[in-house]
Amino acid sequence: MYYEQIKETAAWLQERMPSQPQTAIILGTGLGRLAEEISVTLAIDYKDIPNFPVSTVEGHSGRLIFGKLGDKNILAMQGRFHFYEGYSMQQVTFPVRVMYELGIKTLFVSNAAGGTDPQFSIGDLMIITDHINFFPEHPLHGKNLPVGPRFPDMHETYDHELIALADGIAAEKGIKLQHGVYIGTQGPTFETPAEYRMFRSFGADAVGMSTVPEVIVARHCGIRVFGVSVITDLGGFDAPVEVSHEEVQEAANAAQPVMTKLMRAMIMRSDD
Ligand code: HPA
Repeated sequence: MYYEQIKETAAWLQERMPSQPQTAIILGTGLGRLAEEISVTLAIDYKDIPNFPVSTVEGHSGRLIFGKLGDKNILAMQGRFHFYEGYSMQQVTFPVRVMYELGIKTLFVSNAAGGTDPQFSIGDLMIITDHINFFPEHPLHGKNLPVGPRFPDMHETYDHELIALADGIAAEKGIKLQHGVYIGTQGPTFETPAEYRMFRSFGADAVGMSTVPEVIVARHCGIRVFGVSVITDLGGFDAPVEVSHEEVQEAANAAQPVMTKLMRAMIMRSDD
């Protein structure tokens, strides 16, 4: 049933999409502005797409955009689905399943995250080199879909060539980049100081409430992934610090120009 819905939605979009994109972007926190640089050829509200979940969180609009960035055809998700909103893992990752059916080969993702690495500062961009899945449910739990193996390999979840490309672009444009491990947790609470320390001891450099489910599903079906976190707050070392959604938004907004510059260059220069 789930797989049929994916196929049905993909077929519905295929009939309408103006060109064939091979690159997709999930415009998470910190990447909203990139949407303004896309020459949009078709934008469809999630609520008008058959079988699509509808996004509810403040600050996240929900549209699927087909268009061009430079001369590259892209598909962009403006707004994502978070597990903490009450969606099932199948709903959270439904759009990525559809992307695969549409022929997407490379996925770019961004998010806001709390830094657990004492070397980090608020506003830093962190290339995600690896992740830890700390969600209470696995997105591949249940019957295996015939688009990938039952037991997917995850040794290079974040594509090394794309990371090298990002490092090159950053050096060229004078962008400061951190590298690190992202741990995905369910939220919606921010971490207690003890939880920040625990995540640090696990080997995580940043913690957030998204991305990991979508990335696992993308890798399951062989889509290459590149991800960046904006570090919007710091925890786990020093004195406990209070965090609010507003502060996270503000820090992410401040980092937008650099994040946008990096991602635009990445998308335009990566091969399909
Ligand atoms: N924890 C979890 N998610 C987040 C954080 C955090 O500290 N900051 C931004 N998103």
